[in-house]
Amino acid sequence: MEQGETRIKIAIQKSGRLTSDSLDLLRACGLELDGQKQTLYTPCRNFPLDLLALRDDDIPQYVHDGVADLGIVGENTVLEKGLRVERVLDLGFGVCRLMICLPQHSEVRTLRDLDGRRLATTYPMITSRFLEAEGIGCEVVRLSGAVEIAPMLDIADAICDLVSTGTTARLNGLYPAFTVLTSQARLIANENVLSDPAKRQLFDRLMIRIQGSLEARGRRYLMMNAPCDAVDELRSIIPALKSPTVVPLAEEGMVAVHSVIAEDAFWDVMEKLKGVGASDIVVVPIEAIIR
Ligand code: PRP
Ligand code: ZN
Repeated sequence: MEQGETRIKIAIQKSGRLTSDSLDLLRACGLELDGQKQTLYTPCRNFPLDLLALRDDDIPQYVHDGVADLGIVGENTVLEKGLRVERVLDLGFGVCRLMICLPQHSEVRTLRDLDGRRLATTYPMITSRFLEAEGIGCEVVRLSGAVEIAPMLDIADAICDLVSTGTTARLNGLYPAFTVLTSQARLIANENVLSDPAKRQLFDRLMIRIQGSLEARGRRYLMMNAPCDAVDELRSIIPALKSPTVVPLAEEGMVAVHSVIAEDAFWDVMEKLKGVGASDIVVVPIEAIIR
């Protein structure tokens, strides 16, 4: 690391739902991050970037204060903290819902039935706003963790917590009943980073990589051989194949057709491609698509 070199700091969740997807995204951008799982601070070896592993709830504050320049955190956490940070990009992973969950044998049937009852949550701001908008007078019990045991301890009649697979709720005898908010992982930035020229330059370089890698997600590179006169039919089978690369082959009347295709779409149309004469179909993963 050179003396005085500008580096960009990015905060991710230390251990939790977003950790491995956040690391996967950064690694897919070509960043070498070899720190141990428990390390709070990992300098990247091939890009002027340092990784901070923090409690997700603390990330908005650190980014707001400029301790970290960037952060990857749930939209839910950003909204709950209500701090001014730049919303850069929604990342498409860590999709979950903030939900009001009820004990299996609760008498509560409708949202309205919650009126006059107690609801425990680590998201008091979002929850209170939601209940107020719905006109429900609930006592919001603010907890800092382990909300799912609140009904068992009789400190609440319901909880409001994140539900992803629903396992945590189920294991604690609760069922998710009403959705308050849907959420996913979001890239946030400190407001000043974007106006500091040296940091901005690093930010822009990193964004090209992140966007390139997000563009590639769920897509595959498709190559196949086909008779020349099948190209129009191939195009009608795969709408995305509007302007494929078509290269003549040494064999008379045959061409190679290349294109990017959505992974799901490929398996749906594979038989049809064969049906119109495509052969030697090869599908390969894409690392990045830079527009
Ligand atoms: C959330 C929530 C539950 C879990 C739900 O935790 O508090 O514990 O995820 O997921 P499931 O429906 O798949 O079981 P989060 O990752 O936000 O961590 P934290 O609450 O410890 O910050
Ligand atoms: Zn959390």
